[in-house]
Amino acid sequence: MTRLALPLLAAAGSAYAAECSTKGTATIQNAADATALASCKTFTGDIAIETGAGTAVQLNGIKKLDGDLVVKNNTVLQVLSADSLEEITKEFHLEVVRDLNTLDFPKLKTVNTFNWLTLPNLLSMGFSEKVTKSDFVRIEDTQLQSLDGINLDTVGDISVQNNRFIDKIEMQLANVTGRLVITANNPSVSVKLDNLETANNMTFTNCSEVSVSSLTELGDSLSLIGNTLTDFYAPNLTKIGGALAINSNFELNNLTFPQLTTINRNLEIQNNTKLSKLTGFPKLKTINADLNIYGNMTEIDLPSIELVKGTFRIKSTGDIDNTCEEKFDTLKDEDKIRAGYECEGLLVDPGSEDDTKTGTPSDSKKPGAASSVSVQAGALLAGLAAVFLL
Ligand SMILES: *[C@@H]1O[C@H](CO)[C@@H](O)[C@H](O)[C@H]1NC(C)=O
Ligand SMILES: *[C@@H]1O[C@H](CO)[C@@H](O)[C@H](O)[C@H]1NC(C)=O
Ligand SMILES: *[C@@H]1O[C@H](CO)[C@@H](O)[C@H](O)[C@H]1NC(C)=O
Ligand SMILES: *[C@@H]1O[C@H](CO)[C@@H](O)[C@H](O)[C@H]1NC(C)=O
Ligand SMILES: *[C@@H]1O[C@H](CO)[C@@H](O)[C@H](O)[C@H]1NC(C)=O
Ligand SMILES: *[C@@H]1O[C@H](CO)[C@@H](O)[C@H](O)[C@H]1NC(C)=O
Ligand SMILES: *[C@@H]1O[C@H](CO)[C@@H](O)[C@H](O)[C@H]1NC(C)=O
Ligand SMILES: *[C@@H]1O[C@H](CO)[C@@H](O)[C@H](O)[C@H]1NC(C)=O
Repeated sequence: MTRLALPLLAAAGSAYAAECSTKGTATIQNAADATALASCKTFTGDIAIETGAGTAVQLNGIKKLDGDLVVKNNTVLQVLSADSLEEITKEFHLEVVRDLNTLDFPKLKTVNTFNWLTLPNLLSMGFSEKVTKSDFVRIEDTQLQSLDGINLDTVGDISVQNNRFIDKIEMQLANVTGRLVITANNPSVSVKLDNLETANNMTFTNCSEVSVSSLTELGDSLSLIGNTLTDFYAPNLTKIGGALAINSNFELNNLTFPQLTTINRNLEIQNNTKLSKLTGFPKLKTINADLNIYGNMTEIDLPSIELVKGTFRIKSTGDIDNTCEEKFDTLKDEDKIRAGYECEGLLVDPGSEDDTKTGTPSDSKKPGAASSVSVQAGALLAGLAAVFLL
């Protein structure tokens, strides 16, 4: 890091945009260093704020930072502001800034990359005008109450994790080209991305609601794991380029994908304790890998299945043996299932390899030969491995 030597090109009392630049990093070590930047309308190079700069740093005057703004492992800074800053062309990096409690960036609109990690006292973003353009967003371990200062229409990767107070995420997002991960925020967080049309990899954990009513296509996988949502509805989704995993959502009782026809990798639906009816896939035709469904279902229908390239495995505590016999045994016979086939109800622990049956209920006939078990050990292991990869 180079000690700050500025302004490099500032005209005295300049009315026009002064350009300043530094080869390395301009290190703000005291209030005067920050003031010295005020005559720079555009600053090219990185700016780092050191502990010596004190509790409050103002980067006033700068409109465009063509570089990074970095505050890392700073135990002193509490207030960071920039009254004119509109754009950060590289990274806005705040990492382990324990006392930071106020940001005030009223004009900020474009930030290439947000990398905000471990900001345990930061309650709000302070972006009154809202940031509408960003390629990468990573916000983890903060005290933020909301993401209201960021409203993007497209983004590459977006990760919002471990922000215990964020209870609502709503954005105009239309396309996500990379990975979207929303995990371990406020357990009651509701996520509404109702303009989202295309996405790539999406993972939702610990959400109480996930709404993606415009989503039509996913380039890669969708994982809903360990959420408290009661229903999930993807009315416009037709194709999933990767896997679909819906596991351990203990309140889920309604799962509906009315338009979905194709899943390119595995379909996993497991341990959703309250999901007794699995009839929300009326058009699902092709699964280009395995289908693994374990749970407490009493009713299952997959009326359009034409091809499962891998193993087909449905196991339930519920009495589905007649369903297996009537609806699915024929799929295997017709070679629509290309690898192992297993369909069985009345199991004590359908998530395990233990095929112990529960006591036969009086109103149901003995399943006997209704379920054909023809999974090879290899296919089973491959299926389980796929679960852990998700
Ligand atoms: C963070 O700062 C503290 C105190 O200034 C210092 O002791 C520690 O080594 C720093 N840690 C890292 C990872 O830079
Ligand atoms: C999002 O993607 C769709 C389909 O590829 C495209 O038509 C639309 O213009 C994109 N929207 C934005 C805001 O980039
Ligand atoms: C499907 O998406 C379109 C816009 O892309 C929207 O108008 C329509 O309401 C969506 N369908 C449902 C059921 O929400
Ligand atoms: C998130 O979900 C996981 C798995 O269901 C659970 O172990 C964890 O306690 C949850 N965390 C929060 C913050 O709710
Ligand atoms: C499940 O959700 C879908 C879509 O919201 C709805 O049309 C349907 O009535 C729900 N089914 C039940 C049993 O609540
Ligand atoms: C079935 O439901 C019981 C009780 O509600 C629960 O303990 C068990 O984990 C569930 N099994 C599966 C595979 O979801
Ligand atoms: C489902 O529950 C079983 C125990 O019944 C467990 O072995 C398995 O790992 C769970 N699967 C997932 C995907 O959580
Ligand atoms: C999407 O997620 C799956 C499973 O987590 C992973 O195998 C794959 O590499 C991811 N793809 C991208 C583009 O991140």
